Amino acid sequence: MTTPPSGHRQNGPDWWRQAAVYQIYPRSFADSDGDGLGDIPGVTSRLPYLSELGIDAVWLSPFYPSALADGGYDVADYRNVDPRLGTLEDFDAMVAEAHRFGIKVIVDIVPNHTSEDHEWFQAALRAAPGSPERERYIFREGKGENGELPPADWQSAFGGPAWHRLPDGWWYLHIFAPEQPDLNWDNPEVRADFRKTLRFWSDRGVDGFRIDVANALVKDLSDPLRDMGNRTYREQMESIEDGTHPFLDRDEVHEIYREWREVFNEYDPPRVGVAEAYVQNHRLVLYARPEGLGQAFNFEYLKTGWSATELRSVVDVSLRTAQEAGASATWVLSNHDVIRHTSRFALPDDADHEAWLLSGGTEPRADTERGLRRARAATLLELALPGSAYMYQGEELGLPEAAGIAEEDLQDPVWERSSHTRKGRDGCRVPLPWTRGGTSFGFGGDPWLPQPADFGAQSVEAQEGEEGSTLELYREALRLRHKLVGTDESLRWISSAETEEAGLLHFVRPDGWHCVTNFSTEAAPLPDGEVLLSSGPLGTGGQLPGETTVWLRTADPAAG
Ligand code: GLC
Repeated sequence: MTTPPSGHRQNGPDWWRQAAVYQIYPRSFADSDGDGLGDIPGVTSRLPYLSELGIDAVWLSPFYPSALADGGYDVADYRNVDPRLGTLEDFDAMVAEAHRFGIKVIVDIVPNHTSEDHEWFQAALRAAPGSPERERYIFREGKGENGELPPADWQSAFGGPAWHRLPDGWWYLHIFAPEQPDLNWDNPEVRADFRKTLRFWSDRGVDGFRIDVANALVKDLSDPLRDMGNRTYREQMESIEDGTHPFLDRDEVHEIYREWREVFNEYDPPRVGVAEAYVQNHRLVLYARPEGLGQAFNFEYLKTGWSATELRSVVDVSLRTAQEAGASATWVLSNHDVIRHTSRFALPDDADHEAWLLSGGTEPRADTERGLRRARAATLLELALPGSAYMYQGEELGLPEAAGIAEEDLQDPVWERSSHTRKGRDGCRVPLPWTRGGTSFGFGGDPWLPQPADFGAQSVEAQEGEEGSTLELYREALRLRHKLVGTDESLRWISSAETEEAGLLHFVRPDGWHCVTNFSTEAAPLPDGEVLLSSGPLGTGGQLPGETTVWLRTADPAAG
């Protein structure tokens, strides 16, 4: 058995402020029983790997019972483990083992909607209109002469109307897939039940929660429902951003999180929350406040192209936003909802990602070497920034998007709901390659999503101990980061508008820890200092090659 490292990770109530958090998509991580679906014992079996990687916490995407209408984000029972993924005892064993390694555990909470299989929704379907069972969801009569039109023109995030009609003529709201009916958060019973769920997992030792679509819970249900105009979901989402939108980011949602904060604070250390909320920064602050969830994802880095000037302003704005909230900043390059960043960086900045996926990843051509080079540089930059870095399983292997999944193998509801115009998110959810060869490259059984034929070359086995591999880069970066990160969350820019224009971004953290990224393709002079790590080989004669990040240390505190 691998011996746990001796307490190099942060403890105490502020452990999350600058944590390196590793997102596990459980069904694609490691399959211990060979049924083709990753599971909880699979996670446990790989904790030594995660410990060696050097992360501080894992965040597990949903592992609850689910019909998988939306990759597990359709939860049938919030206080249980999907039997295909294990048992509650397996979960407890996983948490205990993670803690033994000094790794914290964050779980995903999906409060906006349940699965249609949830006992509440099943009861609602059997119950009469107007019954208490139906009051847990959002049922309405339709418009039109015979109620044949949806109650409002609200759109679903996955495409099409956000309302579904039942055989009895009533409609129910689903901001996501029809298999994901939205809960009615005006109902105290719903609120009480989620507080129970938070305590259920906190009592089992879970350290925190990632809150799925944290901005969508509360709706304006006053009659008549307000129409949004003939627009797509995105247009509807962006049309009102002041807290009065009929179904997104309403001010009242923060009452819920104040109640959750009380629950979090019942524990020692307090449980932590991180909000997934696609809202403007001035609204994001409200979710990230200490009296709210405490932290919120910042997706700006992920949306920024390969540009020193753009990234500089994103970093400034993100740090300001976090500071205003009293939270630490968060950084994300990849997750289970977006094209892996190795592939994003391999495409021209103006590439249409949906079209690229539809072409099977052939049009436009991806420059994979460049993508990986930039991805590695972006990671070192991310890990030097103040705040928490949320990393997604497989990015430590530099995995690209599996863009060639055949249409008949696609699982994401986005594909059907968008009438085959968007392929969806399966390409970043393909089961991980652990070994060079063998069944499913060491993942387990016949994988639930097909893996690319050349996956073995990028496996853990192929990269472990290999000098210059992406896995070894992550390990070294995380090891150094633990030593270099203090409690001071400040940075000071060394680069100027002029040097940034030329592609050089340079900042220094306390204690003379410098991070310099060369966004251009031309080599630039390497600033003075002891080289700690670089994302690619450094040129001879003090050069920083293009598309490369270097960490340096200067002894002179005045210089730092
Ligand atoms: C979040 C999840 C996404 C899911 C959606 C609905 O955005 O990250 O995967 O489809 O919520 O639950």
